[in-house]
Amino acid sequence: MALLRGLAEVAPMGMDLRLRTPAGLPLFSPDLEGPPAAQAVEAFAAEVGAADGMVIACPEYVHALPGAFKNALDWLVSRDEIIGKPIALLHATHRGADVARQLHLVLGTLSERFWPDLEARFHLMRQTPDEISAHLRMPVNRQILQQFLSDFTGRIQTRGDVGE
Ligand SMILES: Cc1cc2nc3c(=O)[nH]c(=O)nc-3n(C[C@H](O)[C@H](O)[C@H](O)COP(=O)(O)O)c2cc1C
Repeated sequence: MALLRGLAEVAPMGMDLRLRTPAGLPLFSPDLEGPPAAQAVEAFAAEVGAADGMVIACPEYVHALPGAFKNALDWLVSRDEIIGKPIALLHATHRGADVARQLHLVLGTLSERFWPDLEARFHLMRQTPDEISAHLRMPVNRQILQQFLSDFTGRIQTRGDVGE
């Protein structure tokens, strides 16, 4: 989340960049999908549906996707909101090759506009949120974040339907 806050700091004027965690969703069951599903699920899906794109920063837990994050994705699988959604990854550690592989597999299944080649990586482990914030404000790191965001928004605009 500290990394995503750093990204929000370099967002250009006019970009509405919202920070979210997948907290507060019930455990996924196909028997509870509705329609409608629980209010928290409907609200989450509506936010995903309204976004022009999603930047995901996801930690690795025990060599895998954290259950809470996979649970959030599972709620979206049989709905329309994430289909074709532009998605790019930010990584907060040099470790986590397993979660990166799993993210590529799962997100690539959910959206044909998941773009793994756009990802950016920072080495932020064991830093406090304040230290991360200071690190990301260094000109070299601001530049990486700005380039990441500009590449992502540029590709969204050239490959698709923003605001429609
Ligand atoms: C339950 C748990 C399991 C973790 N397993 C891994 C792991 O397998 N590989 C890894 O690189 N980091 C692992 N980590 C570290 C996290 O990915 C993350 O880097 C760390 O929690 C720091 O982020 P935080 O400050 O947001 O907690 C684990 C952390 C927790 C809490």
